[in-house]
Amino acid sequence: MAIRRASKRVTPLPQVGRDPIATPIIKWVGGKTKLLPELLARLPDSFERYYEPFIGGAALFFRVAPERAVLNDSNTDLVNLYATVTKDAASVIKRLAEHRANHDERHYYAMRQKWNDDHRDWPAADRAAAFIYLNKTCFNGLWRVNRSGDFNVPIGRYADPPICVPEALQAASRALAKAELRQGDYRAAVADAKRGDFLYFDPPYDPVTPTANFTSYTAGAFGPEQQRELADAATSTR
Ligand SMILES: C[S@@+](CC[C@H](N)C(=O)[O-])C[C@H]1O[C@@H](n2cnc3c(N)ncnc32)[C@H](O)[C@@H]1O
Repeated sequence: MAIRRASKRVTPLPQVGRDPIATPIIKWVGGKTKLLPELLARLPDSFERYYEPFIGGAALFFRVAPERAVLNDSNTDLVNLYATVTKDAASVIKRLAEHRANHDERHYYAMRQKWNDDHRDWPAADRAAAFIYLNKTCFNGLWRVNRSGDFNVPIGRYADPPICVPEALQAASRALAKAELRQGDYRAAVADAKRGDFLYFDPPYDPVTPTANFTSYTAGAFGPEQQRELADAATSTR
């Protein structure tokens, strides 16, 4: 298999004082890193709690680094990842170093198979590390599951994917420690929001064409009816 040589240049993490600012630790379809200037320009000057009920890669959360936050996603594996990185980044880093040492096509497909066999029974750090490993090495960083919930993305063509970046995981762990993590539907996640809180809704995209229909972060779907309900919920919480 031909592998495209990626540049070896590593972008240093942005830094405030002695600690690097956290940035997303996974690639995520719909991630907002490139749109951050637009989002930051629209942020209120101050707020009580920061709510992000469709957290995905958490680009805005990591950039804002709020003192009090409620983060949620319906994807159980994603929420487990953030919870584990918060509590035990060191174990996740240790396992990721092993994945990095073993990484090749055979290891990728073996891990994908094991993940689909029984990852819900694994210790949290194994599960979190496998999620990051598959996400960083799969085609286009696409986390896509089929209707049965099986992760079905082929290996990506990277010469040197950033499988284990300890400083990034430690920075994310510090930022996440200030957040309350929830798993489930966005409606339950924002039910206790109060006047003065800031709610940032970034749901799955409404497909613009019948073929551009990536809505499969989890085995459920987020269709036009859900988009309308969300619009109603967002305007009613103003
Ligand atoms: C566009 S992504 C969010 C991207 C994120 N803002 C970022 O910067 O990476 C949408 C997220 O919504 C989640 N999701 C889909 N349906 C949901 C629901 N009903 N409630 C909560 N989260 C949901 C998906 O798992 C996905 O992570």
